Amino acid sequence: MNAITIKDLNKSFVNGRETANILKNINLNVEKGEFVSIMGPSGCGKSTLLYLLGGLDKPTSGSVSLYGTDLSTMKEKDLCDMRSDKIGFVFQFYNLVPNLNVEDNIALPLMIAGKKSSSYKKKIDEVLEIIGMTDKRKLTPRELSGGQQQRVAIARALVFDPEILFLDEPIGNLDSKTGMRIMELFREINKRLGMTIVQVTHSEEAARYGTKLVRVLDGRIESVEDLTNENPGMDRRVS
Ligand SMILES: Nc1ncnc2c1ncn2[C@@H]1O[C@H](COP(=O)(O)OP(=O)(O)O)[C@@H](O)[C@H]1O
Ligand SMILES: [Mg+2]
Repeated sequence: MNAITIKDLNKSFVNGRETANILKNINLNVEKGEFVSIMGPSGCGKSTLLYLLGGLDKPTSGSVSLYGTDLSTMKEKDLCDMRSDKIGFVFQFYNLVPNLNVEDNIALPLMIAGKKSSSYKKKIDEVLEIIGMTDKRKLTPRELSGGQQQRVAIARALVFDPEILFLDEPIGNLDSKTGMRIMELFREINKRLGMTIVQVTHSEEAARYGTKLVRVLDGRIESVEDLTNENPGMDRRVS
């Protein structure tokens, strides 16, 4: 079964008397374990597409299904539950709480969900290890570099063991060297945890870390390129 099935997806926004057709007839499948990069120029509708995939917005027509369930058939409550524990989001800006330390920022979604700290202590250790910041767990965001802050945001997105990780310009705010290190971390998360990743980016360099590159232009898919040969050792599918 596909992790994500996008069928005849259209999205338009109405501003006064004007209707802007942002996404036009998008069809795309994402298999479990893939790392898909959706690339296109600024303003082409990448974030809009990502929000539709994550159920944060609704299509004008067409459908998005996650693991075979059409999001439009889901009740708001189920959609909400799904967003909180089946998918993870990482954005360009890290959205960390300034006065909480690293481990508390990471644990925040679990605290909000009413989990006891004893139940997630191991998980926090595990995700700190993944992002390579075990020794920085007691620091606050202002003591961290941009790249480290983004690592914390990534760890926070991993605490519920999401099925799919959605990334919106995850290195858009970082210098290129730091950004590529973050891309290597995503590649590692995809490979080691077998997590399905969909990123949107305007950077070709970042996009090439994926196993598949989808180019979007003027609201349509322009091309789809298989990158598994460029990323040796990558399993496209994880059993
Ligand atoms: N909620 C909205 N209402 C009206 N227009 C929107 C809305 N969200 C996005 N847009 C428009 O859709 C276009 C694509 O936006 P976006 O998906 O953010 O592009 P990208 O992420 O590729 O830069 C832009 O022209 C933007 O102004
Ligand atoms: Mg955007």
